[in-house]
Amino acid sequence: MATQASSSTRTSVSPHDVPDHGARHVAIIMDGNGRWAKKRLLPRFAGHKAGVDAVRKIARSARELGIECLTLYAFSSENWKRPAAEIADLMGLLRRFIEADIDEMVSDNVRLRVIGNYRALEPSLVALIDDALARTAVNTGPVLAIALNYGSQDEMVRAVQSLAARAASGEIAPDEICADHLHGALDTAGLPPLDLMIRTSGEQRLSNFLLWQAAYAELYFTDVLWPDFDTKALAGALHAFKDRDRRYGGL
Ligand code: FPP
Repeated sequence: MATQASSSTRTSVSPHDVPDHGARHVAIIMDGNGRWAKKRLLPRFAGHKAGVDAVRKIARSARELGIECLTLYAFSSENWKRPAAEIADLMGLLRRFIEADIDEMVSDNVRLRVIGNYRALEPSLVALIDDALARTAVNTGPVLAIALNYGSQDEMVRAVQSLAARAASGEIAPDEICADHLHGALDTAGLPPLDLMIRTSGEQRLSNFLLWQAAYAELYFTDVLWPDFDTKALAGALHAFKDRDRRYGGL
């Protein structure tokens, strides 16, 4: 479902660059901001700031390449272990990203989603996110899902708790609970099945990101540091995805 990009958002790719790649839902673990900054003798903040520029470019390119849903791991439930100053920097960057980009998302027909327990964030940031979600909720185009205070195990625990509450109230029988129930109780309910999971910076692990959803996703690891991950790199990942043989346990 490619949408027409506005003139201010056009990048150099078109769906013709990777025709029929078939990836409806792509998720990215955006890793390597700190190393990108270190290589340039810059503070870590500079790496995160460059990381936000990459978010903008990749979100636009994903739309132009016909990806229906792009899910980005922006802040994990484990990132609270970082120094308070870095956490404040990341929250500030997120706030400025939403403030600066929400009008474009509205006009480009983008649906913003947030996965993770974002309600535990600072109240004025929660209000900003809620406003952005409400403003894009009527849109019908591609989804930009941002994972905030997200951890897959936490998401599954919350989903199980909601199903247990429904079972306790008699709404559903415990022995009737199936994978579809759990799927529908996750933060990603309603999003297309995850096709491709990309991790930048050379690390090869999932770090508590979309563990349930990645059951049959293709994994793509690249040494490119997140701030350097550009449209060409995304097209390269889609080309690799296109060449994979997905058998889902069959032959
Ligand atoms: C990992 O790099 C990156 C993060 C923990 C944060 C990702 C956040 C952004 C790209 C910016 C905010 C996002 C949005 C959506 C506005 P790292 O710091 O762990 O890098 P390192 O492993 O090289 O130290």
